[in-house]
Amino acid sequence: MNASNDELVTHAKLAFDQAKSPADLENAKALFLGKTGRITELMKGLSALSVEEKKAQGALINKLKQGIEEALQQRRLEMQAAELDRQLRAEALDVTLPGRSRHKGGLHPVSMTMERIEKVFASMGFEVAQGPEIETDWFNFTALNTPQNHPARSMHDTFYVEGGHLLRTHTSPMQIRHAVQHVKRHKSLIDQGLSMPEIRVIAPGRTYRVDSDATHSPMFHQCEGLWIGEQVSFKDLKVVFTNFCKMFFESEDLILRFRPSFFPFTEPSAEIDIQFPSGPLAGRWLEVAGSGQVHPNVVRNMGLDPERYIGFAFGMGPDRLTMLRYGVNDLRLFFDGDLRFLNQFQ
Ligand code: PHE
Repeated sequence: MNASNDELVTHAKLAFDQAKSPADLENAKALFLGKTGRITELMKGLSALSVEEKKAQGALINKLKQGIEEALQQRRLEMQAAELDRQLRAEALDVTLPGRSRHKGGLHPVSMTMERIEKVFASMGFEVAQGPEIETDWFNFTALNTPQNHPARSMHDTFYVEGGHLLRTHTSPMQIRHAVQHVKRHKSLIDQGLSMPEIRVIAPGRTYRVDSDATHSPMFHQCEGLWIGEQVSFKDLKVVFTNFCKMFFESEDLILRFRPSFFPFTEPSAEIDIQFPSGPLAGRWLEVAGSGQVHPNVVRNMGLDPERYIGFAFGMGPDRLTMLRYGVNDLRLFFDGDLRFLNQFQ
């Protein structure tokens, strides 16, 4: 055994350290431990030695081999650790990055108002009805005591659609539609001259007029109310609508005013104004609804005897109620679809 043999392990270590990849390392290994490698060469040299020398030399070669194998194993482990490190680095998650939030949908402020209106009226025994937005002349005008050429028709700038139909200009056609269904359901009672259950309904929905500015939109919302019975009076209208407003605005001190007005389908008619006792709108009368006692001609068109059945109707603007409740000054904001505006209500 000579000094260069002692250095064999050092050389092997160096070669292994220089290997950049597992393939490099395998090549380096072959140089020392392979079939034609240095250790095999040394082994071959043993055959020429005596038994004694073979023993001593063989033990030395084994030690060298062991040293090389250890160095190889160490380098393998090093490479594995480096590879693991590389992988971990590549797959690293930066937990300090801000998260991507999922956008949560919400109800439109006008829808929130609609739900609120329905809830308050449900507590007073009103059911909720829905009907078509494309209407016939009969339901939108004629049945509501507004015949052709009636001047009141020009109050409504109507969108006409193909086939002589129109986009309903108010929810009042629902008075007729709902009442006719109700009368049909209770026809046998009515035919026998017995009392029919009262009609108590609200009908919220979209309505349309050719009109557009800060307080008018070509599409807007209305909510109709109708109460028909044998003893229903204007007093009931005042009680019901006053209660509604106080509950809707959560203000017991709200002041209401029923201002004489005209609608073809009610007689007498009243515009309903409210006034807040305090807050930014205090001291101003704000119009919130049209109303009145249902005209006998309309009661007749419902299929009922106006001598026996009487009641009231009202039509309010949920868009306006929403503006008043939240202090919004431009109606168009509701329909622009700007999330910066809409998110404020969530
Ligand atoms: N339909 C009327 C309008 O749109 C409101 C109204 C409804 C008035 C019911 C009286 C009774 O202006």
